[in-house]
Amino acid sequence: MDPLLLNDWHPVADAAALKPGCLLPARLLEHELVLWRASDGTIHAWDDRCPHRGARLSLGRVANDRVVCAYHGWQFDASGQCRLQPAHPQNTPPRNACAARFNVQEAYGLAWVCLGDPERSLLPFPEYEHPGLRKVLCGPFPVHACGPRIIENFLDMAHFAFIHEGILGDTGHAEVPDYKVAAFDDKLGRTGMKGVIATACFAYQPQSNLQASGGSMVEYTYRVVRPLSAILTKLPQEQSGLADVISLHVQPIDEEHCQAWMVLATTDEGSSDEEMRDFQGRIFMQDLAILESQRPKRIPLQPGLEVPQPADRLSAAYRRMLRELGMKYGVM
Ligand code: FES
Ligand SMILES: [Fe+2]
Repeated sequence: MDPLLLNDWHPVADAAALKPGCLLPARLLEHELVLWRASDGTIHAWDDRCPHRGARLSLGRVANDRVVCAYHGWQFDASGQCRLQPAHPQNTPPRNACAARFNVQEAYGLAWVCLGDPERSLLPFPEYEHPGLRKVLCGPFPVHACGPRIIENFLDMAHFAFIHEGILGDTGHAEVPDYKVAAFDDKLGRTGMKGVIATACFAYQPQSNLQASGGSMVEYTYRVVRPLSAILTKLPQEQSGLADVISLHVQPIDEEHCQAWMVLATTDEGSSDEEMRDFQGRIFMQDLAILESQRPKRIPLQPGLEVPQPADRLSAAYRRMLRELGMKYGVM
């Protein structure tokens, strides 16, 4: 497994859907996980496999802060240790009757898991803490594509006029003006990561958000903060003040299948959460057929196989970032 992704944090579930008492299966990097929340609010992420006879723990239930396997009723406490084998109620279960546990944390409305040893902190997303911005979680959107293709699509402005015509783009304004690309330091020191930032990106949009009443030029910035996480800000030119923020976090299920999560930090006070999810979902569905059609499935990091255009400078910088990080998964 690619150590870069193995030792990083990935979104696996909507934290609000993880209610105390329920077991939630999830998939990450070809691993089957089971998630559950204890009564003190702590989230646990375990291998979805009972050490007894390999049954899925997610078929069981949670009772008194223990996971109870559906097959023979073994009970596991929050440390993963089996405390009761109902067929032998007098015995103390052996130490190796223990579920495999993974690092998990809750942030930005999501549960994040690291399958290996966390090498860096969770990505920084300072706008999420801004009291003037409303947070809305969208997704997950399943996609039959590798993670980097999904991020690259999020960074791509040249497709707005074609795939999102009438909303994010207009064929009469297909030209992509030049923009600035630079290295991005997430300021987390040794535990952070060098990413990429693009600024002064302008696009004409017929309906840049749900509240827009007409077309306008919109200024974007894009930050790629982790191999599979990017954050954009967008501000219509006639608007002043806070920009809307859309962050995209890809959960790699395997090299060619992912789930995309979006966390919005928005200035929109007039739309309901449901309306905002519908709007983002509608836009994402427009990208889906393209994303799933792209060949090769694994994104080529070496030049030569695809023919870039000048508007792809950000995507080129993203591919360079992946190369320099030594990314192996979902790439070729
Ligand atoms: S397989 Fe889980 S208790 Fe037997
Ligand atoms: Fe798109």
